[in-house]
Amino acid sequence: MSKGFVEDDITREVRMRTDIVALISEYVRLRKTGKNYVGLCPFHEEKTASFTVDPDKQLFYCFGCGAGGNAFTFLMKREGLSFPEALEKLAQRAGVRLPSRSRYRGDESRRKENKRLLDALEFAQSKFRDMLYGSRGKDALKYLETRGLSREIIDKFGLGFAPDEWDFIASSAKRSGFHQGDFLKAGLLLERPSGGYYDRFRNRVTFPIYDSAGTLIGFGGRAIGDETPKYLNSPETPVFRKGRELYALSLAKPGIRRKDRVCVVEGYMDVIMSFQHGIDYTVAGMGTALSREQARALLLLTGEVYLVYDRDEAGKRATRRSIDVFREAGGRTRIVSLPGSKDPDVFLRTEGPGAYEKLLDEALPDIQFIYDEARRENAHLGMEGKIRVMEAMVPVLASLSSDFERSAYIEDFSRDLAVPTDSLNRDVETYRRKSKKARKYKDPQNRDTTGYDNQRQPNPASGSKRVDKTGGKKPTDIEVSVVRRKAEEGVIRCLIENPELLKKAMETLGEQDFADPVLRELFKILREGSPDTVADERIQAQVAELCLRFGDVSRDSAPRILDDCIRSMRRERLEELRETIALAERTKDQAALTQAILDYQRLLKQLKSTGDASDGSAL
Ligand code: CTP
Ligand code: MN
Repeated sequence: MSKGFVEDDITREVRMRTDIVALISEYVRLRKTGKNYVGLCPFHEEKTASFTVDPDKQLFYCFGCGAGGNAFTFLMKREGLSFPEALEKLAQRAGVRLPSRSRYRGDESRRKENKRLLDALEFAQSKFRDMLYGSRGKDALKYLETRGLSREIIDKFGLGFAPDEWDFIASSAKRSGFHQGDFLKAGLLLERPSGGYYDRFRNRVTFPIYDSAGTLIGFGGRAIGDETPKYLNSPETPVFRKGRELYALSLAKPGIRRKDRVCVVEGYMDVIMSFQHGIDYTVAGMGTALSREQARALLLLTGEVYLVYDRDEAGKRATRRSIDVFREAGGRTRIVSLPGSKDPDVFLRTEGPGAYEKLLDEALPDIQFIYDEARRENAHLGMEGKIRVMEAMVPVLASLSSDFERSAYIEDFSRDLAVPTDSLNRDVETYRRKSKKARKYKDPQNRDTTGYDNQRQPNPASGSKRVDKTGGKKPTDIEVSVVRRKAEEGVIRCLIENPELLKKAMETLGEQDFADPVLRELFKILREGSPDTVADERIQAQVAELCLRFGDVSRDSAPRILDDCIRSMRRERLEELRETIALAERTKDQAALTQAILDYQRLLKQLKSTGDASDGSAL
């Protein structure tokens, strides 16, 4: 951790030029309350906003799970980046040039490899685009135009063409001095059994796939004729994780925020056609079932999710699965049915955006969709069918935590099935009581609703309560009291916000006085400078917690609070030493006993000299 100070000036500059509210807003819809912003925490699943961003301090902290830190910490946690990677991303964003040689060496090789893969993808992208607009791309371009795409939208989505050759990318990469191995890893090439490489994408229209920050990470390719498979995608690579990315999310974010809603569709073409018609709040999965992570990423941006899937059997199954995934991720969806088994692409082209948006407005809440489907599937079964519908609906109804909503649906469904409301009501109540699982069953409301009053989660950084005292000198571990921990927190909080008090604190405190390893480290950091530029995530989380969780310390009261806390630390330490002495006597641990007595006497002397021995005089 001594390498904490990383290129301080650059880090400070990047931090200064980064607006943490704007940064986090790209992931989480934030709402202003007082001087802070709040939203749903991206680091744990919650339904009430415990996640707080302080624009003055440029820090975030979640009262639900204890995650916290600055802009760097946020990106590191959210995107799984190392500190240098987060620095690089934010520097780019802020328009700060990083020195080409970095002092920091962590993850260098992984970072370099990823960079090579991204370069390979960009190289391929520029080749594919050239091809589409060149003489060999005529048919491909014509294909796109007959599908109704404008030149403008083809351009916006960066569509391209991979020609009908085995080694178009393979050999042009080689000619340009790239390593084919990187292209293999990036998913652009495949290996021949006999050695050598060949192109994955051949005779296909290419759809570049970007991550949520707009970095090119893979491709989809569509056959121009009837070849199979119709769509071929990049495989999973170190930079492309299908369960994580959503097609067009980087383009759709502004629209999602503006309209406070998102349409989830199945196909790339559906997304592109939506944008062409101004429905610019549309995304799609990656040809795989939606994951909870993808659902969560959308729910952080908006609570209004519209599923616009095909109406065929496969589409319905996918809809049902996505409903569940969104419910598990803590949200609800609305289901849009496009008439005549059209997909959004076809519907928009034939009916236009007005009709489409009207259907969005009429979309069914997910529960209603589940009911309608169950009803339809069992319609031919008479009485037996009714029972099956009830059986299907009871767990879903039981999962609703709003009494009003539950009884409204029960009322509605009972009437539709011509059964007494009471009986359905009883079944649902029994189910709720009987099965604890029922509560958890895909219930957004009951999922980890950590609010402000919840107890703080144990901070893994501050570790177990038992700490190794004064660097392992003693074999006996006495628990550090809550009071002492609070006092240590108080000291550090005063010092972060009032660095001018540091000199005074250092007269009476050394790092050995801190039992908590993170607070001890923070004290060291404060002594040497400021924690602003420290990369360590635990340190940043601790700073954010202290600054946001306890509110401000006014300049006037800071010296007094500092004094109180230091005194309290001393008193608690004396108390611990007394316990240690008693324990050492009992266990006949002579070495520990001698040490503890010495420590005790020294501390007592110290307290006497500062006129504060009242509590510790009786041994
Ligand atoms: N898909 C895929 N592989 C396939 C078929 C489909 O990865 N063999 C994915 C693609 O992302 C595609 C989506 O599933 O966009 C929806 O598939 P489908 O409904 O069959 O295609 P459309 O989007 O309607 O494609 P098009 O309109 O081009 O026929
Ligand atoms: Mn289609």
